[in-house]
Amino acid sequence: MEQNAPKRRDNKKSLRVKVISLGNAEVGKSCIIKRYCEKRFVPKYLATIGIDYGVTKVQVRDREIKVNIFDMAGHPFFYEVRNEFYKDSQGVLLVYDVGLRESFAALDSWLGEMKQEMGSQANMESIVFIVCANKVDLLKRRVVDEGEGRLWAESRGFHYFETSAQSGEGINEMFQAFFSSITDMCENGGKRPVSEVSVGFTKEQADTIRRIRSSKDSWDMLGVKPGATREEVNKAYRKLAVLLHPDKCVAPGSEDAFKAVVNARTSLLKNIK
Ligand code: GTP
Ligand code: MG
Repeated sequence: MEQNAPKRRDNKKSLRVKVISLGNAEVGKSCIIKRYCEKRFVPKYLATIGIDYGVTKVQVRDREIKVNIFDMAGHPFFYEVRNEFYKDSQGVLLVYDVGLRESFAALDSWLGEMKQEMGSQANMESIVFIVCANKVDLLKRRVVDEGEGRLWAESRGFHYFETSAQSGEGINEMFQAFFSSITDMCENGGKRPVSEVSVGFTKEQADTIRRIRSSKDSWDMLGVKPGATREEVNKAYRKLAVLLHPDKCVAPGSEDAFKAVVNARTSLLKNIK
């Protein structure tokens, strides 16, 4: 009896979790997992056919975590195979290639596919999401910067990490944060702990920064019609300045967005009588 007691306690401390990887084909999902589990990098592209499954054991604080990893194929051709595997995941690795804007833009549709396949079971608050901005080693071809990626992730309450499966940069830190958050969530009764969801800035601030980044001219940036009056420009400017002032807004990219808004107002006022 005495001998069994510690074993029972240990069992209580062990956890089994399921994680999945999502993102366009060729962004590096399999290589990230391989880098972490096997400490190696394969330069040749070997597309995942449907799903690759693996198990790894990790230690988080006093718990042993058995992680079941379902590495999904990103190619649309494998949708029918993939869609079976979304359910019952505690963690999702969302991966994009910092050199391919379309792979970043596709993250929303990956979340959409996941929600659709999980159906009524879709409780996104019970899943830890981690965004990997991958291939950061390829500096010259980078087109999605850190501010943009971080903003997309953190405004949704997701973690954000810059990674390179090739050099190993960010990989261990990312997985440690991932497993530790999943453990926190399980210990918190299956809900993501509040501290992780609250990121210190609002969705309105994040959406505004995104809108400013993609605006086509100064009118568009201030959200006024071409030909607007000085008063209309100043009113729109004041509203944005209050929302984005770097003293008040900690969202990634707020400083640049604030500067852009100041410049837009100056250039518009120059041309309005
Ligand atoms: P699917 O299985 O088709 O969905 O693709 P995947 O996302 O699993 O991509 P995979 O891991 O197979 O990697 C695709 C290609 O990108 C391979 O040629 C890898 O060697 C390369 N690659 C992956 N990660 C990195 C990285 O961080 N840096 C560089 N330079 N190349 C990478
Ligand atoms: Mg793969």
